[in-house]
Amino acid sequence: MTKPIWIKHASQLATLASSEKGPRSKKAMSDLGLIEDGSLWIENGLIQAVGITADLEKQYAGREHEAEVVDATGHLVTPGLVDPHTHVAYGGSREREFEMRLEGATYMEIMNAGGGIHATTRMTREASEEELIEQTTKRLDLFLEHGVTTIEGKSGYGMDLETELKQLRVMKTLQETHPIDIVPTFMGAHAVPVEYKGREDEFVDLLIDEMLPVIAEEKLAVFNDVFCEKDVYTPEQSERVLEAGKRLGLIPKIHADEIESYGGAELAAKVGAISAEHLLKASDEGIKAMAEAGTIACLLPATALYLREQAAAGRKMIDEGVAVAISTDCNPGSSPTTSMPLVMNLACISMRLTPAEALTAATYNAACAIKCEDKAGSLEVGKQADIVLWDAKNYQEIQYFFGVNHVKAVWKKGVQVVG
Ligand code: NIG
Ligand code: FE
Repeated sequence: MTKPIWIKHASQLATLASSEKGPRSKKAMSDLGLIEDGSLWIENGLIQAVGITADLEKQYAGREHEAEVVDATGHLVTPGLVDPHTHVAYGGSREREFEMRLEGATYMEIMNAGGGIHATTRMTREASEEELIEQTTKRLDLFLEHGVTTIEGKSGYGMDLETELKQLRVMKTLQETHPIDIVPTFMGAHAVPVEYKGREDEFVDLLIDEMLPVIAEEKLAVFNDVFCEKDVYTPEQSERVLEAGKRLGLIPKIHADEIESYGGAELAAKVGAISAEHLLKASDEGIKAMAEAGTIACLLPATALYLREQAAAGRKMIDEGVAVAISTDCNPGSSPTTSMPLVMNLACISMRLTPAEALTAATYNAACAIKCEDKAGSLEVGKQADIVLWDAKNYQEIQYFFGVNHVKAVWKKGVQVVG
């Protein structure tokens, strides 16, 4: 039995608790369930009580001496951040492409010339499972340092069954050995592999007939994602892959309308995707369709910045009733970062989310986008004790003070992993 932990006197406890379940949109994204002079009692890795310190003092009268007390006076306390879209398990790096883009090449030009996703695919195919575990562990450690306690992780740098399985198994191993929770997504349709250039439909058949059944059978993924983009997969091809996944129990996600407006948001609504990602060029009709279907918009403002593109219309999406989540998109090409605090900040600056909306988008709504809101994303009794104590006194401060990591301490399932 580990000692209970009592975090007390937080100047602000942003619980993100609400009686309404499900992804939040419009005004609900601004309600952080704030408690001043807040306390949390943690036992057996779970939150046992949340409230005003004076109330917990009464509730636990006589048991104070049992607990390890953390004095959070002057500090903001929030749920562990959730990153609902990463490509974290990959081999190598692509710093030369960063330079090439600054010299004038575009992201798609580099990819179509065999670089980009194809370059990482070569490096990931070549890497052993042990090498991938070693490289991915470093990134997971960085996530924790930035207050992130749960992530989604995509395959898609294999695009052959063997390497896709290797990436998913690496994530499964790390789920068992690393403190971070990793929710796995199969993304065999991340690009058209060079060996299938001009034979896209054949690769779609391979995905449907040979890869998806094995992934589902081995229970290696919860979600199934497709890069629906001009010169990658058409909406029709994407739909086939996503519908095939659905028949096997895999929930659809879509990389949609990232580079060009291509009907991705509309498709997400049509197939009942849990979320659509990127959406830089989503059409007005697509945004409306997502609001009606309840599709979460997973927005990636660090990717837009890194590609020097205009960010997605986050403000408009919230106003139109779309539930917005935000994510790093951590990957070696378009967003090499693990900093969710930076992403919250960019969500405010480049998409005009308010600091409260950005925090909801990085916690509760992010958890909804990867179906783990029953255990993560808010500080409520019975949930995992995934908690961040910030070197800041309120939630506005972590977003306004920019490019700085204010994370002071992190607990994952009640175990202190940072600070
Ligand atoms: O989400 N858009 C496609 N996939 C990734 C980028 C992957 C890469 O460049 O390696 C993304 O941005
Ligand atoms: Fe992505």
